[in-house]
Amino acid sequence: MWLSGSVLLLSAAVAQAKYIVPGARWRDTDGNLVNAHAGNVIQDNGTFWWFGEYKVEGQEEGGGVSVYSSTDLATWASHGLALEPVEGSPYISPSNIIQRPKVVYSESTGKYHMWWHADNSSYGLLLQGFATADTPAGPYSFVNATAPLGNWSQDFGMFTDYKDGRTYALYSNGDRAEGRDVYLTSYNKEVTALDEVVHRFDKFDLEAPTIIQTERSYYALMSHKTGYRPNNVVAFRADSLSGPWSQPWIVAPLNTRTYNSQSGFTLRIKGSKKTTYLYLGDQWDSNSLWESRYIWLPMNIHDNRRTLEVEWHDVYDLNVKTGDFKPVKGREYTSKDATTNGNAFKQEANFASDGVILTGIEGNDSTVTFHGIEGTGKPQWVSFYYQNTDDMGFGDQPGGSPDRIGGSWQLRRISSVVVNGNTEKVETLYQRDTHKGIILSTPLQLTLNKGSKNTITVGGLSNGFHYKGADLDKIVVYPSEK
Ligand code: GLA
Repeated sequence: MWLSGSVLLLSAAVAQAKYIVPGARWRDTDGNLVNAHAGNVIQDNGTFWWFGEYKVEGQEEGGGVSVYSSTDLATWASHGLALEPVEGSPYISPSNIIQRPKVVYSESTGKYHMWWHADNSSYGLLLQGFATADTPAGPYSFVNATAPLGNWSQDFGMFTDYKDGRTYALYSNGDRAEGRDVYLTSYNKEVTALDEVVHRFDKFDLEAPTIIQTERSYYALMSHKTGYRPNNVVAFRADSLSGPWSQPWIVAPLNTRTYNSQSGFTLRIKGSKKTTYLYLGDQWDSNSLWESRYIWLPMNIHDNRRTLEVEWHDVYDLNVKTGDFKPVKGREYTSKDATTNGNAFKQEANFASDGVILTGIEGNDSTVTFHGIEGTGKPQWVSFYYQNTDDMGFGDQPGGSPDRIGGSWQLRRISSVVVNGNTEKVETLYQRDTHKGIILSTPLQLTLNKGSKNTITVGGLSNGFHYKGADLDKIVVYPSEK
């Protein structure tokens, strides 16, 4: 009863515009953060079901698999855990790795089948877990954890061919020298066991695999192996799953590290007017995995030119019925017109929108303020375009630079954002490392006053190493959702 009630509520919500905002704090219909990482989305009788790793605050593993439902891919209702960890189990205890879960409906068994990377906490087993349920939300019952055709299996992906309904597993076979491949292997008709290897992406040493299918092509996307740090995701193309597969290429602008995300899944939305291909990436937060965010973006695919690019939009409106998506237009306020306080200043930057960037933002005193901002009086998405050059190296500090000998990853700066000088209400803006001269954006939902007299002030908060905010290029204010 509760389920049908929530589905009804969701259909009412579809009539309203509900935007997809990559990298924002996504909340479910109860107001909690959506906690479903590195999973997949299936469509079942007009409802989308999203499965993913459920991360527990302060803990790396052990949360099980969560499930959410939606009819528009933007409004998500939580259905709790689809697969619950079982104390004392050798494969699904709270200390086991239950990563990259994927669900598929098996026509033959009439059940929903969940598969994932099943492991112990040191990645020493490298197995694939299998569980089944009668309904999409489960709960799923554990069946077994097996070595795929006797091989190792680490990062796990799944793909179903829309032309013949056949399902395939995709898995990297670990980091050892004998591994470092990605396998594409067909399941039996029931999707209860693997059948035969269709292709092996030999020694590319990639992970986080997913396949998207167009009318003519298959594109396989995978990331490099940098743990929870993002890198340049690549794609391969082929006419048939068994190959020959093309050389890989990088799918997003260089040095954006795939807009700060790792590949995980791809979704084909075939609407009445258009087919849209979505990249469902994870923006891991290695400081607190449970807070990791999602980078869902359309992919621009040209089968004739044999290209696929992931394209950035701060805010877009996807109509899952027609398959159309529209980038939402916002109003820009660039750094040239902002005022600076304390040690914050404007510095020449030929890559910035106005040739200058706002820098030296630190603590409460060295802040910058954008003026004359038009607001609606209702919540609005505001994107902050920034550069974070912590990759320049903090060799003597924990964190360090990814582009430096022995370097690692600072992860992010944190800025404070204050509307109309109201310091009672400070918003925290996470600004992850970009690169020198690379500007990315990150969104916050703010409520401005109606009219054009608003100010937005940005300062720096502690990220554990310093109190610096990232350099700002501009802000873009989007209309409220209708
Ligand atoms: C990569 C993998 C994830 C997870 C982390 C652990 O990001 O793709 O599934 O295993 O590494 O570091």
